Order: sequence, then C-alpha cells, then structure tokens
Amino acid sequence: MKLNNGIRLTWLGQSTYLIEADDKTIIIDPWLTNNPVCPDELKTFESIDVMLITHGHADHMEDAVPIAREHSPTVVAIIETAKYLESKGVENTIGMNKGGTLTVEGVKATMVTANHSNSAIEEDGSIIYLGEPAGFVLEFGNGYKIYHAGDTNVFGDMQLIGEIYQPDLALLPIGDHFTMGPREAAYATKLLGIPAVHPNHYGTFPVLTGTVEAFRKLTASQDIEIVDLEVGGTLE
Ligand code: NI
Ligand code: MN
Repeated sequence: MKLNNGIRLTWLGQSTYLIEADDKTIIIDPWLTNNPVCPDELKTFESIDVMLITHGHADHMEDAVPIAREHSPTVVAIIETAKYLESKGVENTIGMNKGGTLTVEGVKATMVTANHSNSAIEEDGSIIYLGEPAGFVLEFGNGYKIYHAGDTNVFGDMQLIGEIYQPDLALLPIGDHFTMGPREAAYATKLLGIPAVHPNHYGTFPVLTGTVEAFRKLTASQDIEIVDLEVGGTLE
C-alpha cells in the first residue's frame, strides 16, 4: 500500500512509529534504547515535533524523557502520564483524556479507549498513578487518518471508533500474551470496518507469539489490506 500525499510511516518495532507528515515529525510510543528489534541507526532523530504516548508501560514510554530533552517536542498523553513527565522535567506536555480531540502541529489527535492496564511507577517508596491506557486517531492535513490502538484486547466500542472517525489505516497489536492475538485482532478489523492494517507488538520477545501469517489467514475473508512493513521499513 501507499500512504497518500507525502505521509511517511516508519515502524521501529513493537508499538513505536515515526510519522513524517506536513513537514512535521511525530513519534508514537517512544521505545528505542532497550527495544531489541529496532535497528540502531533508527534510534536517533534529526528532529521530533510531536510525541504521543498511549500508556506508561516501558515498551511504550521508556525513551520519552531523553527524547523530550533532546528535541523538545509537544508531548501528548493522558493527563496523569503528562503530569508525571512534567515532574521529570519534560516541557510542552499536553494532558488530555479519552474522547478529546486536539490539534497539535497541524495534526488532529483524538484520544480513544484501549482496554489494557497501565503502569503505576514506584519511585522513592511512593506509587505514582499514570492514568488509563489509551489509543489515538490521528488526522493529517490532507484528511488521511491513522488509528493507533495502543495495547488492547478487542472491544465492542471499536465499532464506534470506526463509525465516528473512519480511519484509513489501523495499527493493531497481534502479539498475544499482553495484548490481543491474531484471533481477536481479526475481529477488531471487522468492528472497525478498516480498509488497511499494520500489525504490531509481535515477535519482540518470545512470549509475543502472534504472527502476521496467522492474522492474514484469519482475515482472508475480509476486504482488507495487511500492510507488509517490517521493522525499520517505511511506507510512503
Ligand atoms: Ni502495555
Ligand atoms: Mn506493550
């Protein structure tokens, strides 16, 4: 598949993506340093304008603070996570919550439900609540829409996300164990009515056993494109 009108999407492994659109660079779920599948040459950036965080688990947020220090992006996360990052010295945070839409650097970002747990980080003997996990629907200047589901199982309200926002491409976990596997993901695509999917959150560790092959088989009866994009690859 091709992404329209100059949007570039690079998969950095697990749930981490770099999107270049409208002359801006957006990183979603920054996890690089300890990401065993991300190629080393893709772990540094010229500039990052926007950082979006779905939830506080290490494989989604571990590099948020160093990247924020280096590049000073606008950082969007659920309010409690945004506050936590602020307490770590991250500037330009925007805390939001589910159902809300904001425009950041020309991209419309809507926070949507994800069904998962979230980290409570323990520091100096106190436990810091990081809020609930979420997903995002992003709409770019040309109208193209990408749904990043974050970590989640399948849930019925994916149908609402599909109906209300009509995303063009969904980034869905299929790895199993910590998120939905191929069976639930193949139902999620039906609920979303989505034309194209890039599966993620598989193969990073041995327990993430879901495969694209299994997902492809389970979605064979659907009119859907499974985007063929390896870790480190770019769609444009
Ligand atoms: Ni998680
Ligand atoms: Mn995860």
